[in-house]
Amino acid sequence: MHAITIPEPGGPEALVWAEAPDPEPGQGEVLVGVAASAVNRADILQRQGFYDPPPGASPYPGLECSGRILSVGPGVSGWSEGDEVCALLSGGGYAEKAAVPAGQLLPVPRGLDPVTAAALPEVTCTVWSNVFMVAHLRPAETLLVHGGASGIGTMAIQLAKAVGARVAVTAGGPEKLARCAELGADILIDYREQDFVEELRKATDGAGADVILDIIGAKYLDRNVRALAANGRLAVIGLQGGVKGELNLGMLLGKRAAVTATSLRGRPPQEKAAIVAAVREHVWPLIEAGTVKPVVDRVLPMPEAAEAHRTLESGAHVGKVLLVAPAGRR
Ligand SMILES: NC(=O)c1ccc[n+]([C@@H]2O[C@H](COP(=O)([O-])OP(=O)(O)OC[C@H]3O[C@@H](n4cnc5c(N)ncnc54)[C@H](OP(=O)(O)O)[C@@H]3O)[C@@H](O)[C@H]2O)c1
Repeated sequence: MHAITIPEPGGPEALVWAEAPDPEPGQGEVLVGVAASAVNRADILQRQGFYDPPPGASPYPGLECSGRILSVGPGVSGWSEGDEVCALLSGGGYAEKAAVPAGQLLPVPRGLDPVTAAALPEVTCTVWSNVFMVAHLRPAETLLVHGGASGIGTMAIQLAKAVGARVAVTAGGPEKLARCAELGADILIDYREQDFVEELRKATDGAGADVILDIIGAKYLDRNVRALAANGRLAVIGLQGGVKGELNLGMLLGKRAAVTATSLRGRPPQEKAAIVAAVREHVWPLIEAGTVKPVVDRVLPMPEAAEAHRTLESGAHVGKVLLVAPAGRR
């Protein structure tokens, strides 16, 4: 097969489409013929040499894929050769074939084409596991989503609206905020011009956010805690603004609030399987009903992964950037 390899860490040009050995499906795994993958922030860090794949994972980038099952390994039930699937991966999505633990497979939702389905696994699993399984967002509560126009943000807005929550977003500029509003966001905050703590306070009669989904980390830690409502839950999933911050425990204590942080990639397969099962149960029906839609910014040929990384790094995109494998075009 061919895969995007990283012979030496570096800029986007470090991504090289080259021949690579076919993966072998092990116990409990299937081999997927990849139609498409999608670009995630973590792939950029991996390309730069700052985020090695976890032990046992494929050395190639790509945390999700879609395609068709080519063969089924020992100990797999419920899936057959030829099934159209999408999958959460620990790596190896930027390739023509990927070996996937069966617990990380999802069917391509009814009504969706297999290429577009590659936009779903990472954002649905990350948002569902953090906003709902950890932070327990409830109807009529307020969720603040930082980076509302990101891949993660576009899914978080839609899922929170689908359960009847009120959604506030931050984004850089009116165009991105307008896209967030189209997806259902109620409170729009331009973080380049406005203070999100103050804007949220005004929009919630002083109450603040019940749940915050944060991708900035250290730089926003203090302001996030200030923006939380009583009994609020701050779920940190990204560290774009640094890893070490000062936590005001007095304020946390006074609000009876909680701070959590999780990363999906390094979780054991059983935990990933539990998240995937919850997403299939709760999110897939919303996608099949058309209530929640994948937001795809653009689709590029997989060998042009370097261009896809430049797009993500420029910050010009809204939603997901997909990479279609040569077989995905047929
Ligand atoms: N922990 C996990 O398991 C997990 C899983 C998946 C993703 N993530 C994290 O989630 C984040 C989003 O991932 P993605 O793949 O969806 O990336 P993405 O589409 O590239 O989004 C990055 C976003 O960050 C926004 N941003 C930058 N500075 C900001 C600021 N100061 N305030 C608010 N927003 C700001 C950008 O928006 P503007 O252009 O509007 O500035 C952009 O939309 C990344 O940090 C990623 O590492 C974590």
